[in-house]
Amino acid sequence: MSNPVLSAISDRRSIRKYTDAQLTKEQLETLLKAARESPSARNAQPWRFSVVQNPDILSEINAEAKKNLGADLKDIFHGAPTVVFLSGDPEWMWSAVDCGIAVQTIALAAHSIGLGSVILGLPDAAFRGDRAEYFGQLLKFPDKFKFVIAIAVGVPAATKKAHPIEPDRVFYVG
Ligand SMILES: Cc1cc2nc3c(=O)[nH]c(=O)nc-3n(C[C@H](O)[C@H](O)[C@H](O)COP(=O)(O)O)c2cc1C
Repeated sequence: MSNPVLSAISDRRSIRKYTDAQLTKEQLETLLKAARESPSARNAQPWRFSVVQNPDILSEINAEAKKNLGADLKDIFHGAPTVVFLSGDPEWMWSAVDCGIAVQTIALAAHSIGLGSVILGLPDAAFRGDRAEYFGQLLKFPDKFKFVIAIAVGVPAATKKAHPIEPDRVFYVG
């Protein structure tokens, strides 16, 4: 079976190299609209989206995450011109699931309009160290909200093969 939705799902890749081109306002708004159209438990829409296009802020978060990870990584944002950080209330049991759905919606929507993206868990480290509160405030996370996931978006400058699909992950029961 084939249709545009299935093709977008099959052809999306995690993109780790971007051109310098910034997203247009229309592209950014398209992605944020798609994200907010995602389903959520009890329709709580528990996500908050913090959009960062300032390279100095990305560089500060990158440095903090790497310091807290104690790892010699390169740019955790892969040089993307736009990063969207999703925060949620950790006391709401579906925050992580709902933010995960929203971030995948952004990834598919980005692909469908010719952009590349990569979902990012590594920035979490910047929000867990002794400067967690500072970084939460910098990104305008509401009170008590915590980082859940991020996604880098831009014009792709490289692509990669599809990931191999692991066998034996499906059980037909009954
Ligand atoms: C929850 C989550 C966290 C991820 N965190 C990172 C990350 O911090 N850095 C990164 O480069 N890729 C990250 N990825 C991308 C995965 O490595 C990627 O999805 C996987 O290797 C499969 O490749 P594909 O997306 O091209 O199919 C993350 C993906 C998910 C779903």
